Amino acid sequence: MTLGGKRILLIIAGGIAAYKSLDLIRRLRERGAVVRPIMTKAAQEFVTPLAVGALSASHVYTDLFSREDEQDVGHIRLARECDLVVVAPATADLMAKMAHGLADDLASAVLLASDRPILIAPAMNPKMWTASATQRNLATLQKDGIQFVGPMEGEMAESGERGLGRMAEPLDIVAAVEQQLSGPKPLAGMKAVVTSGPTHEPIDPVRYIANRSSGKQGHAIATALAKLGAEVTLVSGPVTISDPTGVRTVHVERAEEMRDAVLANLPVDIAVMVAAVADWRVASSADQKIKKLPGEAPAPLQLTENPDILKTVGHHAQRPRLVVGFAAETQNIDENGRSKLERKGADLIVANDVSAGTGAMGGDRNSVRLITKTGVEAWPDLSKTEVAERLALWIATHVSGTSR
Ligand code: CTP
Repeated sequence: MTLGGKRILLIIAGGIAAYKSLDLIRRLRERGAVVRPIMTKAAQEFVTPLAVGALSASHVYTDLFSREDEQDVGHIRLARECDLVVVAPATADLMAKMAHGLADDLASAVLLASDRPILIAPAMNPKMWTASATQRNLATLQKDGIQFVGPMEGEMAESGERGLGRMAEPLDIVAAVEQQLSGPKPLAGMKAVVTSGPTHEPIDPVRYIANRSSGKQGHAIATALAKLGAEVTLVSGPVTISDPTGVRTVHVERAEEMRDAVLANLPVDIAVMVAAVADWRVASSADQKIKKLPGEAPAPLQLTENPDILKTVGHHAQRPRLVVGFAAETQNIDENGRSKLERKGADLIVANDVSAGTGAMGGDRNSVRLITKTGVEAWPDLSKTEVAERLALWIATHVSGTSR
C-alpha cells in the first residue's frame, strides 16, 4: 500500500490512450490511493463515465456548469482536496490550454485553480508532439513546475506511425506518482554526474576498439540518484539502451570526449564513474579506411593511454564531495579495490566480480563489494536496479559526512 490514503485527482482527456486510464485507476487503487476522476467531453467519446466510475468507486466529474457537481464539491474544492493532480492522457489541446491559462471546461478550470502538484502523461500523434506549438507549451509548463511522465516512443494505435507520443504505461505513471508523493528527498538540491557504458576508440572511420559494457548499471544509478532528488547528468558512451527519464543525458563516443563532458559539468556534489572507459586509444587514428594490401602484413596498431577520468575528478581542484568509482576484478578483489581507491582519490570503490560466469559485464545482475578507507561491505547477488537503488541510498547517507 505504497499510496495508502493518498488522494489523486485524475483528469482524463480525450485520446485513444484513455483506455489505459482504466488500468491506471485500478493500479492506483491497488496501492491504496483514493482516485477522484474528472473526464473531459472528448474523453467520454473514448471511455464511458460508467466504466471510470465503477473502477474508481467514485462519482465522475464531467461538467463545470452542472448544478449537482458544483453543489457537491465545486471546482475550487475539487482542485485542492487532493495530494496530486494527474492528467492521463494529456492531449496537445489540454496542454495548450494549461500553458495559456484557459479555463472553459471543468478539467482546465480545475488545473488553473489547483495549488497542488501536477503530473501529466502526454499522449498524441508524434507530429503533434514535435510541433513547435506543443514544444513551446511543454517548455512553458516545465517552467511552471508541472511534472511529466513520458511520452514514450512507439507505434500509434490509430495510424501505425512510429515516434514519440505514446502515453507512458500505467505502471510507469504509478511509479511517477509514488515518486511525487514520497516526501522529502535526501538528495534534493544536489548535483551528480554519472558516466556509463563503454567508449569507442576509433582505428579508422569504420573500425573501433570497444568492450562489452552495456551501460545498464550506470544508467540505473543515474535513475536511482534522480529518484532521490539529485539533478543528474549522465555521460553515456555508445549503448543500445534508452536514455533514462528524469536525467539529462549527454552522448559521447571516445574517452577524451567523456572526460571533457564530465569536467564541463563540475562543480557537482557527487561523481559516480561507472563507465568501462577504454584504457588505451589508437595513437593516431586514420582519416581514411585502412585497406588491406595483398601480400603485406597488417600495420601494427600504436596505442596510447587514455585520460583516467575517475583519477582526474578525484584529484581535481573542484573535487566533488563524494567520488565513487567501479572496479572490474577477477581476483584479489579487496586488495585491488583498496589500491584503486587510494590511487584514484575516490571515497568508495564498488568492486564487481567479473570472473567468467558472473555475468556482471553486459548482464542484468551484479554482485558487488563496497570498499572504503575504513572497510569492506559485501552485498548479495542483486539485480542491477537493486544495486543502483541501494547505492543511491548509501550515497545519500554518506555525502553529507565526507570531507577530504
Ligand atoms: N576509469 C575512468 N577512466 C579511465 C579508466 C577507468 O574514469 N580511463 C574509471 C572507471 O569508470 C571505473 C574505474 O575507473 O570507475 C575503473 O578503473 P580501472 O583502473 O579501469 O580498473 P578496472 O577496470 O577495474 O581494471 P584494471 O585495474 O585491471 O585496469
